[in-house]
Amino acid sequence: MHRLFVAIRPPEDIRDLLIDAMDDSPDFRWQDDQQLHLTLRFVGEVERPVADDLADALGRIRTERFQLRIAGVGRFEQRSSGALWAGVEPKAPAAGLAAKVERVCEEVGLEPERRAFHPHITLARWKGRRGREVADYLERRSGLASPPFDVSEFTLFESQLSRHGAHYEEVSTYPLRR
Ligand code: 2AM
Repeated sequence: MHRLFVAIRPPEDIRDLLIDAMDDSPDFRWQDDQQLHLTLRFVGEVERPVADDLADALGRIRTERFQLRIAGVGRFEQRSSGALWAGVEPKAPAAGLAAKVERVCEEVGLEPERRAFHPHITLARWKGRRGREVADYLERRSGLASPPFDVSEFTLFESQLSRHGAHYEEVSTYPLRR
């Protein structure tokens, strides 16, 4: 089985800005450079033939290049875990591309994604209760912002989970139109 997702990799200067916005707080498990991405669609575990169909079908997506910028920070929280993330603006072009990726996923037989699309780049994860630390971080970094950057491609990734965390391998990359 292959654990797949489709994402945008921010350019190096943007990844550097995101890494600079992390701190050394031991309350959070910070993402490293290779883990930074904006997920367009989490696919999950699929068999090889589905993975191949998906890799082909993504190549038929036609979308023009667009720009994004980092804008602010936020969090997702469940009962006993959560994630800190950097937001992106504007949301419409990212959502448009995500919708095309969603259509392709359904064409190759995947179950529809029922959750709303919230474009973000995860910076850190935590386990347990970190209410105070999370609130402090969000306040400290509320002004996080970058200049616009070009999104000229998107990527199909395979996620390998291990005791040391997730390792993300690029399977294929798809250029957007000029
Ligand atoms: P996250 O950063 O918001 O956690 C690889 O796991 C990528 O797919 C992550 O960026 C993760 O988003 C995203 N993803 C979305 N839904 C997921 C799910 N149900 N399980 C694991 N990862 C998911």
